[in-house]
Amino acid sequence: MTYGTILVERKDRTALVTLNRPEALNALNLQVMNEVVAATEELDRDPDIGCIVLTGSERAFAAGADIKEMRPRSYMDMYLSDWFTAWDRLGALRTPTVAAVSGYALGGGCELAMLCDILLASDTAVFGQPEIKLGVIPGIGGSQRLTRAVGKAKAMELCLTGRTMDAAEAERAGLVSRVVPAADLLAEALSVAGTVAGMSAPVAMMAKEAVNRSFETTLAEGVRFERRLFHAVFAVEDQKEGMTAFAEKRVPVFGHR
Ligand code: CAA
Repeated sequence: MTYGTILVERKDRTALVTLNRPEALNALNLQVMNEVVAATEELDRDPDIGCIVLTGSERAFAAGADIKEMRPRSYMDMYLSDWFTAWDRLGALRTPTVAAVSGYALGGGCELAMLCDILLASDTAVFGQPEIKLGVIPGIGGSQRLTRAVGKAKAMELCLTGRTMDAAEAERAGLVSRVVPAADLLAEALSVAGTVAGMSAPVAMMAKEAVNRSFETTLAEGVRFERRLFHAVFAVEDQKEGMTAFAEKRVPVFGHR
């Protein structure tokens, strides 16, 4: 399938999806949303793909939802089309995802990065939820996911003032897992994705599901959910392979989907 606003490449068991609207700093219009969702859902269904990397350009991961597209809309337009709802499907993918963020990740761009499972940033990354400066609030989960990631103090300040965070602050606050030099970002993200894709695919899906569950439930229920999945991995052949390889002092070869 060919797309107008994204590029999709595959290498071994990883896929790279690159936002490609340089003239608008990768602003997320409806076409971008529909294409990212369609492409990643197709990759999610592909048994040969074990991890998906989402990235932008060096200047901008994405500078937000498309302000010019939204500007004339009425309440009814937004409500009846359930504007932005399709983005939820990115968070619902079963295949692990890595966001590789360089440059601006503002508004919807920050929200898009937070929809991914692993968030790697370059030292040039800038994060924020500046919607308030446009007279709106975040609409792709920013007020919820940013608060869970960095806590109320910082989330409130960012959402109420529009202040942005540089990569170092984002790492200290726990928004990103690691910061790497801009020139190394993509290689590092693909390397992380390659590592994840080399694991047992069903077990990686279960690990993802278990971590994500912690955002949705109580500690006791989350631990119970994890325990049930932990028991379930003993029905996956890769458990035998992984543990046998350890005992035999060799590298495991996991079967995939
Ligand atoms: N929507 C539409 N177009 C955008 C855009 C956006 N979010 N961000 C940048 N662009 C466009 C600019 O309009 C400009 O296009 P033209 O050349 O046709 O005028 C082009 O991208 C380059 O941008 P700038 O000239 O502004 O570049 P800059 O380097 O001077 O500034 C910036 C960069 C600070 C990121 C600035 O572009 C900016 O502030 N962008 C908007 C950031 C923002 O408010 N994001 C939140 C959007 S609302 C949202 O995301 C809601 C939600 O929760 C989902």
